[in-house]
Amino acid sequence: MAEIGTDIQRAKHLLHQGELVAVPTETVYGLAGNALNPEAVTKIFKVKERPSFDPLIIHVPDLASVDEYAEEVPEPVRILAKHFWPGPLTILVKKKSIVPELVTSGLDTVGIRCPDHPLTRELLASLDFPLAAPSANPFGYVSPTSPQHVQDQLGNKIQYILDGGTCRVGIESTIVGFENGMTTVYRMGGLSIEKIERVVGKVDVQSHSTSNPKAPGQLKSHYAPGKKILIGKIEELLQQYPAHCAGILTFQNDFNSPFQFILSPSGNLEEAAQNLFTALRTFDKMPIDAILTEFVPEVGLGRAINDRLRRAAAL
Ligand code: TXA
Ligand code: MG
Repeated sequence: MAEIGTDIQRAKHLLHQGELVAVPTETVYGLAGNALNPEAVTKIFKVKERPSFDPLIIHVPDLASVDEYAEEVPEPVRILAKHFWPGPLTILVKKKSIVPELVTSGLDTVGIRCPDHPLTRELLASLDFPLAAPSANPFGYVSPTSPQHVQDQLGNKIQYILDGGTCRVGIESTIVGFENGMTTVYRMGGLSIEKIERVVGKVDVQSHSTSNPKAPGQLKSHYAPGKKILIGKIEELLQQYPAHCAGILTFQNDFNSPFQFILSPSGNLEEAAQNLFTALRTFDKMPIDAILTEFVPEVGLGRAINDRLRRAAAL
């Protein structure tokens, strides 16, 4: 099993040796390695059992570091980074050759993010290389939002999990780039489209494309828990799967079932996002055949939550 602790020096030492460390961010835990060391990057793909065609994002300590790795940063994208970093925003930019092809799966763009978590920011500031870090889960599974989630699935494959508590945002970063003269969102995430549009105006959202995805996070079936998920009106779904063999995942409503998880009794979408992946993991451990759930309001973080529900259900 991996050791769980708050020792930044230990994390730094392991990373310098080309080893991997799970690190906290405000969105989800990342499986981090030296992005400039191809051997460390290879380990990331291996530990996650991730196909090599699925590129990694790199994490930097501040906005100033971007120009070390990006050939060019379109103005709206730079403005967004300036506005929302550190935070749940990944920018897709043309890469410099210093970024190994392995990281970007041969693409000429690289995803860059400055995460907003004090431990990981301190760690990043102490390193002279960026950290490649996908979410710290086996490929295709739900992202981890606590050290224990990482331990449960990757604990026998890594040595150290830097403990930053439960992730505040709980859903992965929003991925934004610039294409055909438009600011483009490739993955909806912890930064809402409304907030982005308030800064740079109307954006194009491509996160539903299923053919030739730019980001495999766009693949139809992704972020999936082990159980079958049905989305609809819960009262109706209960006619197919009675409450004793189904888990019920609601936004606010209480169905008085022993196998239920209410994302936010007060109807707060930030709270719902924070709880979503823990809820899906909890159901996986319950003696149920299926998860019955409903969409949350399609505004703010609700759009990212609904996106993950759709993918979990492979709709
Ligand atoms: O919140 C997050 O973004 C977390 C934390 C750890 O920072 N990381 C994360 O990484 O979610 P990952 O690898 O699980 O998801 C990143 C997504 C993947 O779907 C990947 O395909 C896409 O970003 N991606 C990375 N680089 C890309 C590129 N150059 N072009 C298109 N998509 C890219
Ligand atoms: Mg992931």
